[in-house]
Parts: sequence; structure tokens; C-alpha cells
Amino acid sequence: MQPPVIAPSILSADFARLGEEVDAVLAAGADWVHFDVMDNHYVPNLTIGPLVCEALRRHGVTAPIDVHLMVEPVDRIVPDFAKAGATLISFHPEASRHVHRTIQLIRSEGCQAGLVLNPATPLDVLDHVLEDLDLVLLMSVNPGFGGQAFIPSALDKLRRVRARIDATGKPIRLEIDGGVKPDNIRDIAAAGADTFVAGSAIFGQPDYAAVIAHMRREIAG
Ligand code: DX5
Ligand code: ZN
Repeated sequence: MQPPVIAPSILSADFARLGEEVDAVLAAGADWVHFDVMDNHYVPNLTIGPLVCEALRRHGVTAPIDVHLMVEPVDRIVPDFAKAGATLISFHPEASRHVHRTIQLIRSEGCQAGLVLNPATPLDVLDHVLEDLDLVLLMSVNPGFGGQAFIPSALDKLRRVRARIDATGKPIRLEIDGGVKPDNIRDIAAAGADTFVAGSAIFGQPDYAAVIAHMRREIAG
């Protein structure tokens, strides 16, 4: 297992002060910036695009930017995010007509590639492509909104994906997204996640450093 990564979702940040919010959460000990892109088509919400990613880079953010695409179609927007400074780009297989081609596209643009599984998406979407991925992102809520409750069946799914990743012998990260809080992150880590997205649990508290430190203690067990 790789060292744990905490990736605050800026979906719950104050967008009127986004640069300051990202600086603050990174200064508080976050590892990555989780960047939720919603298109009011694949999911019923509309958020931010490559211009905002580029603005964060221009603002001076050097941490990895973990772009979670909830858009359909996927391929058209991938080069724009690569140019805007994305480090990783993850997408939902339901939103891409040719999943293998999209993974190759992300890599050819110089980014790391992730595949996202919704709560009801079966694990067999990983067949034939798992070894080409840098990251598997398991949704523990249905995509579209922050602040939803963690779906408990995600724990069993995490264990099964962890076993599949371990069987490859490759350093593929296993990321969890949705309803992650200090009081459930220990079980989530024990089930095999090594990369933790949290939006409302971090940005909903006044002291980001305290929440992140609490999460790290829970992960360490
Ligand atoms: C949901 C997004 C998540 C969300 C997580 O579609 O992908 O990243 O912002 O928010 P919390 O941690 O509040 O569930
Ligand atoms: Zn997300």
C-alpha cells in the first residue's frame, strides 16, 4: 500500500475566494486538490472547467490537481484539462464510448489516468483496463453533489478492488469519494483505500488543519 493521500474536494470551498481556500487547505496538510467537474448532463449539477484549473496554476498552486470528470462526452475536454495543468484525470466509463481509448488519450496528454465506479457500477469495468490505470476512484455516493451520506456497501467494494489491485503488483491508487469523515475514515482505510477525498468534512469546519490531522490519525489506526 502506498502512503495515504488526502485530497480535499474544492466543491465545498468558498468559490468567491477559491485561491485562498486552496492555499489554506494545502498549508493545513492536504496532499492533492480534488477538482469536481460537472456538466448538468452526465450529472444534475454544473461546476467548474479548465479555466479555473488554469487559474489555480497561475495563482501558484503546485500540488497535484486531481480532476474528477463528471461530463459526457469525455474526450473533447481531456486536452483542455491537460493544458490547464491537471495532474490526474479520472472519468466515468458510462460517459465514454471507448474506455480504453480515453485512458490512452489521457496518458498521451501527459496526465495520469483514473477510472471512476459509481455505487451501482460493477467491478467488471476494470477487466482489460486495470493495468493501464494509475488510479481507481470508487464513489461512495452518487455523483453530483457534496454533503451526501457514505453508502455502506462501498466498504465491501473497496475490499474487492483492493484485492484486484494487489494482484496486479502495480502501484495503482485506490481513491474513495463521497461522505468521507473523520468518524468513518478508519474503516475506509482498513477496507483498502489509500487516497481519500473529503469535501464538506474539511471545508465545513473552521480549522482545516485539525480535521486533516484527525483524519491522518484515524487512517494510521
Ligand atoms: C460528488 C463529488 C465529491 C464530493 C465529495 O459528486 O465527486 O468529490 O464533492 O463531497 P463530500 O465529501 O461532502 O461528500
Ligand atoms: Zn469527486
